[in-house]
Amino acid sequence: MSNSIETKDSARWEAFSADPSGNSAIRILTVDDNEALRYSLARSLRDAGYQVVEAKTGAEALARAAELPDLITLDVNLPDMNGFQVCRRIKADPTTTHIPILHVSSTFVDPQSRVQGLEGGADAYLAEPVDRAELVATVGALLRLKKAETTARQQAQAAEKARLELAQLNATLEARVNERTAELRTANESLRELSARLLKMQDDERRRIARELHDSVGQLLAAISMNMAVVDKESEKLSPEAKKAFVENRSFVQQILQGIRTISHLLHPPLLDESGLPSALRWYVEEFSQRSGISVTLQFSPSFERLSSELETAVFRIVQECLGNIHRHSQSPTAEIRVTKSGDSVSLEVRDAGPGMPAEKQEQIKLGIRTGVGLRGMRERVAQLGGQLKIESDAGGTTVVATLPCTPSTPAAIEGVA
Ligand SMILES: Nc1ncnc2c1ncn2[C@@H]1O[C@H](COP(=O)(O)OP(=O)(O)O)[C@@H](O)[C@H]1O
Ligand SMILES: [Mg+2]
Repeated sequence: MSNSIETKDSARWEAFSADPSGNSAIRILTVDDNEALRYSLARSLRDAGYQVVEAKTGAEALARAAELPDLITLDVNLPDMNGFQVCRRIKADPTTTHIPILHVSSTFVDPQSRVQGLEGGADAYLAEPVDRAELVATVGALLRLKKAETTARQQAQAAEKARLELAQLNATLEARVNERTAELRTANESLRELSARLLKMQDDERRRIARELHDSVGQLLAAISMNMAVVDKESEKLSPEAKKAFVENRSFVQQILQGIRTISHLLHPPLLDESGLPSALRWYVEEFSQRSGISVTLQFSPSFERLSSELETAVFRIVQECLGNIHRHSQSPTAEIRVTKSGDSVSLEVRDAGPGMPAEKQEQIKLGIRTGVGLRGMRERVAQLGGQLKIESDAGGTTVVATLPCTPSTPAAIEGVA
């Protein structure tokens, strides 16, 4: 009879320990002061493949717990201290708190004791006599739970580590982006400064050459012209060939004078400095109309006052470039120029009646790729003065609008340029 029970028990036990060899690395601490009970428990666990370490007292249990077994079976009624106390101390210690504790008691079998044990931190409670299969199954379940907990904790740690690494990477990336942005900003600023210097130098150089032409070559030609007047008075004394050559020379000198005057004025109209933008533009537009055959209208808003020399030069140069473009690219017979001062800004609008720019060209201009020097120069000039340039073009023609603040915030670096 007892034999058959034994066999039945073994079969049940087998079901719970399908892989006893997998348990061989698992160490269980079995604490019980009763030799027979401890032996029986340890035997059952060893049969299930576990390594078993034994302890007889609470103090011994605590010492062994420090060796970090994978699980502890803990008797409640110990000679030196109460098993619940042992459990509480193990669970209170951060190094041992994760060890599952299974109370196995032969004296404290009432529900109240079970509750007390579980509330003290134990993970399960079994009362003697303990069924072997139940014991092994409970131990298995507790170890599975511990393994799942460990896996979850490791996963959480790995996720936290990954999150930290990502945050660090992000911070590094952000720092690098900031660094590159700062570098780009500096490069842009120096480029802008350089182009401002170039524009200013170009304006100054044109003004200097215009003056030079007018003052030295022009003066010399004027002197030649006066000398010729002296010769002219006595021209009847010349032979017919000499007189013919003299008359021709007089005409050449006049033509050269006229040519130099035009070149000098195109380079830098003296009227721009002396009489201001309206007079200079009127003169320029008239000359342009005569040369190009394009009829140009020019309008200023009422009582247009003088602007800063920078602004007047900018507006004049933009008009020059726009009219040049209209002549070269637009096929328009007409052009309209409107200069309006309102409040703190001045707006320049140059419109033609040509067939407009091809869409592809407009796209390139918008993206700033492969546009000519003219439009870029205009944009740069306008940007330097803190203004805006808009170019609109359709089948009805092309319109360039430049809006410039009247108190331009000229970058300090540009002011020093001689
Ligand atoms: N008024 C206009 N009508 C038609 N096309 C124009 C006009 N102004 C400019 N464009 C187009 O824009 C291009 C760029 O002009 P721009 O920068 O002044 O350079 P460039 O005059 O040296 O070609 C021109 O080549 C031309 O195709
Ligand atoms: Mg051009």
